[in-house]
This record gives sequence, structure tokens and C-alpha cells, in this order.
Amino acid sequence: MTEERQSHKLWGGRFSVPSAVALDALNRSIGTDFRLWPYDLRLSKAWAVALSQAGIINIDERQLIETGLDKVAARLAAGTTPEQADEDVHTMIDRMLHEEAGDIASKLHTGRSRNDQVSTATRLWTIEACGELDLSIRVLQQVMIDQALAVEHVLMPSYTHMQRAQPVSAAHWMLSHFWPLERDRARLAVVARNTAMLPLGSGAIAGSAYPVSRALLQENLGFTSLSQNSIDAVGDRDFVAEILFCVALLGVHLSRLAEDLIMYGSSEFGFVRFGEAFTTGSSMMPQKRNPDALELARASGARTLGDLTALLATLKGLPSGYNKDLQDDKRALFGAVDLMLLVLPAVAGSLGEISFDKDRMQSALSSTMMATDLADYLVGKGVSFREAHEAVGSLIREGERNDCELNDLGGDAFSTAHPLFGDDVIDWLDPAQSVSRRGLPGGTAPAAVRSQIEAALLAIQSALGVSRG
Ligand code: ARG
Repeated sequence: MTEERQSHKLWGGRFSVPSAVALDALNRSIGTDFRLWPYDLRLSKAWAVALSQAGIINIDERQLIETGLDKVAARLAAGTTPEQADEDVHTMIDRMLHEEAGDIASKLHTGRSRNDQVSTATRLWTIEACGELDLSIRVLQQVMIDQALAVEHVLMPSYTHMQRAQPVSAAHWMLSHFWPLERDRARLAVVARNTAMLPLGSGAIAGSAYPVSRALLQENLGFTSLSQNSIDAVGDRDFVAEILFCVALLGVHLSRLAEDLIMYGSSEFGFVRFGEAFTTGSSMMPQKRNPDALELARASGARTLGDLTALLATLKGLPSGYNKDLQDDKRALFGAVDLMLLVLPAVAGSLGEISFDKDRMQSALSSTMMATDLADYLVGKGVSFREAHEAVGSLIREGERNDCELNDLGGDAFSTAHPLFGDDVIDWLDPAQSVSRRGLPGGTAPAAVRSQIEAALLAIQSALGVSRG
């Protein structure tokens, strides 16, 4: 079966029969890459300038092409959508330029190929995406700081192996989710830098045979370097892999935050109460307020990981140069970035409307969480840590036997556990004191948390790529 109508193709000349409908259906990428039109137009304009500077088109021709491209841009901005037969965005713009400028449009494709075009356009899109992600992450980070401030002086249990471990400031827990995002932003800044290497001028694979100035193209398009090898340039999708890795890890980070919040919002924990704008009800159980946004954020980590895996699997074992497999890069790229740009504001909104139940958090602090402090107490009296650990262990067993808190055991139990336990040990069972002893940078003591909040506030003042400090 072949297509009846002859479509606008960039490659039809050597074929005597129209391509099969089934091939066109599979090959057509306009549904995915249409959104690249602003970037394709930008690079096309820069290419027209480069062609005229190299004397390949004259100034009149350049003007006709530029005016034509402006008209195409205006039509697209006004909402023109692809035609059924448009193979991809590059072909579509070429068709529209022919409609606007006539035959002269054909001269624009001199010395370039869709292979260097698509990589250039995708890089331009990716650099902007890094900026958008950065912005969206910073909004969430600000919400985290606001929430940390709201619970700066509240204590809660920290958990290892999901078992109560030691008391911490609730702000310290909140900000434990801030720094992973800060690392995500640093990684995105690196990706944006790595992506700003210009492939245009590489042609289909061997480089352009026309004396266009790649330096001029680089400058006009805002790239910071030129690709060194045309074969590599047209087949290089490292930048897609890099942003997908960043996004996949971002998804992982958001999933961990979401999981903490979902868990802390359960009746069993009761540390947080969800708001109403980012939760949903149940069609059957009237009492329910479900944290759907957070659950979807938790799930998004799976999808972004899938996109990264799909891209790496596509690249593995691919012959050098351009291969059509690479067309699928954009499906993964757009899918993952779009998803994160949906998820980030929803997580920021969910977190922003959460309120903390300070009493529930504080009352979850049991005396056994000060076991390490009790061992430290003995160490302070000259006991080895090993011996102290053993003594506190026996005290814990005693508490379990009597089914009571350590505070309620009475002085004898302490002196039986170790003769160096004095009356002052009772202070060491105070969670606030436990927390205040952990004043090293990065610790949970009030002063350390204060510096952490200040460092966090400073960190989010710099946008992507702007040097810190
Ligand atoms: N739509 C293609 C892509 O996204 C453009 C490059 C086509 N190149 C080619 N030689 N057919 O990768």
C-alpha cells in the first residue's frame, strides 16, 4: 500500500514509487518533535546568515528567506498545526517556507542536513529545559525552607531501618530533602553547559562542504563550543542521557520525600496533616483525604527511570553517525521533562499546604532513643564505649521487662546497670539536650540547623549556571 498524495519530502528524488503508508506512519515524528519549531526556526535563521556571509546566497536571497522564516514563525505562533503528511518538524518548516518564500526556500538547505539540524534544535530545547527545571525545583526548595522555619524548634524521631533512632529537629528532617534537590540543580547546570556544544556545520556526517563560519553560528545561537568531529556530532546524544539521568535522580529524590510525607500523614504516625487542594476524596469512604499528588510524584520516579533506560538501551551498540533509532530520543526526553514539570509544582503545593502536628511528633520521642546519649554519659565518666554500650543495653532490657520508659525505672536500675550512673543522668534523657549536643556543622543542634537554613536560603538565590558563593 502506498500513499496516494505526493507529500513535501526532503528526500524523494531518488525514489520512483511513493513510500508505503505503513512506513510513513512509523517514520513520522511530527507528533513528538513539532514542539521543536521555535528552535528549528532559530537555527535556520542563523544558517541563512552563515550562508550569506559565506557568499552562498546573496543578500536579497537571505532577506527573502529571513522574511519567509518570520512569516512561518508568525503562522506557527498563531496556532498552525502540522499537516497529515509532514514527516517531522524540519520538513514541515521547509514546506511552510516554500509556501511563504517560493523556490528560494530550497537554498536554505544548502550544506546542512536534518542530522545536524535535529541535534542542534534538541540541544537548544534541552538547555532551556534545564533552566525551567531549575526554576521549578527552586520553588519547591523555598517551600521546604518555609516549612523548616515553621518547625525549627520542634523535635521528632529520626529513623534508621524505619526504627526510631535518635531525636532530631523537625527542620533538620525537612531540609534532609532540600540538599538532594540542590545537588540536582548543580547537575542540571553541568548538563546545560555540556549541551551547549554546537553540532551545526556537521552536515549529514562528513561536515559541510561550504565555507560557513561555525564560530559565527556558535555565537549567534549562544553555544559555548563547537563539536570537534562531525561523525560524533550527529550521533552524540550524551546530553539527552545526561539530562535524563538528572531527571531520573530528581524523580527518585521526589519519591523519597513523597514517601516520608505519605507515611507521616498516616493515622499511625500522624505527624503531618494534608491540606485539601492537593488531596482527593474517596468515592466510597467519606472520611478519606488521599495524598494523590504525592503518590503520583512517588510513581513518577519509575517513569523517568524508564525513560533513561530506554535512551541508554537505544544508544548501546548503535553504529557511529546518525541512525534513525535516534529519533526516539525525543520521546524519552520530552516525556521525562514534561512529567517533572508537572510533578514539581504539585509536590511544592502539597508540601506547602501540609501542617505539622507538633505534639504528635514530640510525643513519639521515647526515652530509649536517648540510649546513645546514656552511653556518651558513661564515656564522659571515663568508661570505654563498648562497656557503656553493654550497660545501656541492660538498662533497655530492664525497661522492656517492666514495660516502662527509662525515666520511670528509678535510680537503682541505673546504678545496677553501671555504678557510674549518677542522679544527673535524668538530664541525659531529655531529647532537647540530646539534640543540642549535636552542634557540629551538619548536625541537628539549634545553632547548626540555623546555619543550615541560612545556607539553604543562600543556595537558592543562584539560578542555574550562575556561579555560587
Ligand atoms: N526526525 C529525525 C529525528 O528526529 C530528523 C533527522 C532525520 N535524518 C534522516 N537522515 N532521516 O531524528
